[in-house]
Amino acid sequence: MAQAGASGAVGSGAADMAADPCQRERGEWDTACLRARYSGAPVDWPRPQIDAGLAWQEMAPAPAAPAPDAVSTLGERLFFDPRLSRKGQVACASCHQPDKAFGDGRPLAIGEDGLMGMRRSQTLLAAPFAPRLFWDGRAASLEQQAAMPIAHPREMNHTLPELVQRLAALPEYAPLFEAAYGRPQPEAAGITRALAAFVRRIRPAPTAFDDFLAGRRNALDDRQLLGLHLFRTKARCMHCHHGPLLTDLGFHNLNLSFFGRRNQDLGRFEFTRDPQDLGTFRTPSLRNVSRGGPWMHNGIMPSLEGIVRMYNLIEAGFPRRGGEGPQPPAPAPSSLLRSLQLTPEEITALAAFLEVL
Ligand code: HEC
Ligand code: HEC
Repeated sequence: MAQAGASGAVGSGAADMAADPCQRERGEWDTACLRARYSGAPVDWPRPQIDAGLAWQEMAPAPAAPAPDAVSTLGERLFFDPRLSRKGQVACASCHQPDKAFGDGRPLAIGEDGLMGMRRSQTLLAAPFAPRLFWDGRAASLEQQAAMPIAHPREMNHTLPELVQRLAALPEYAPLFEAAYGRPQPEAAGITRALAAFVRRIRPAPTAFDDFLAGRRNALDDRQLLGLHLFRTKARCMHCHHGPLLTDLGFHNLNLSFFGRRNQDLGRFEFTRDPQDLGTFRTPSLRNVSRGGPWMHNGIMPSLEGIVRMYNLIEAGFPRRGGEGPQPPAPAPSSLLRSLQLTPEEITALAAFLEVL
């Protein structure tokens, strides 16, 4: 049997069959039993129930952030400076606010002149670790990514050459560029490199979940503890939300693409044109998730409990049709999804657990 650990493990699927040792007749949960089973470190917790063959990582504290250096210090200054946008209206931090899990609290992003984008501003907690950036994975590095909002007409609406000129005329930036790169004159590559270095320093704000991981066993109340257990077992969340950031950094279809309807967004397919990618979006980190709503790539979900109810009802491969007229059936939701049969008590517990992440 595969072992859980920071380096990863593979699901055995076996636990799926067994009755839960902490569940009594009529489905009641035995809190003392759950307390006992979660009294140790994560390696000693009950193994998550993961389909056979699927790779997963154990829950763990986020890795420590790199220490600030001159490059990321410059990046931090740039990140919070609205003068990066053409008319000086929006900074990176307007859409990625530190107290909102580095999202902006809006369903869809709003850029210069109030122009609305197509997607919700991502929280940036997974960004330092993601091999492919954006909801659809179209950027291959943080350096490449950083140039895109600067040029995007509905975000900062600027150009890198014009931004270089503007920064060159701002005396406060000369010593920062000097310290970072040994030359006071800004250059385009130095700007994107500095922004990327700052994003690499972003980590989740500490929460009760960190306290629990660190061994403070009363950091979660009974309901939140049940939520943790369900997240790992019956509710199947850990199939996609696992590891220190609670994301597999993979792409999955939750049937939120509005296929064939107004506001259609086919996710990763828009970039790869591979039919396998139809309607798939990158799994978000769930750390600090309660600060980052409304949720999903299109901000369509206003409540965490509503999200749990949605997962309770979507089924893998359920064929959906698009709008009127002859057209191919909509892409099927991920085969990892099941109708979960969660009770109202279990739904509340899962939502309570999401609140403390
Ligand atoms: C107008 C709002 C807005 C501004 C300004 C903005 N972003 Fe974003 N950011 C977004 C949206 C929306 C997405 C998701 C876009 C998509 O998936 O198509 C995103 C995605 C990202 C991602 C990818 C995160 C991930 O996990 O893949 C990073 C990193 C990022 N932004 C950094 C920045 C930086 C750095 C700046 C400033 C140079 C910036 N953003 C400016 C709205 C904004
Ligand atoms: C098949 C993989 C998969 C499984 C299983 C899964 N998720 Fe997700 N989750 C995703 C993806 C992908 C998204 C983003 C989808 C989108 O925006 O279209 C997401 C989004 C979310 C969000 C919104 C986060 C945000 O910042 O927008 C929450 C909350 C969430 N999931 C919780 C859960 C819970 C709780 C469970 C278990 C009941 C679960 N997920 C099971 C893949 C999964």
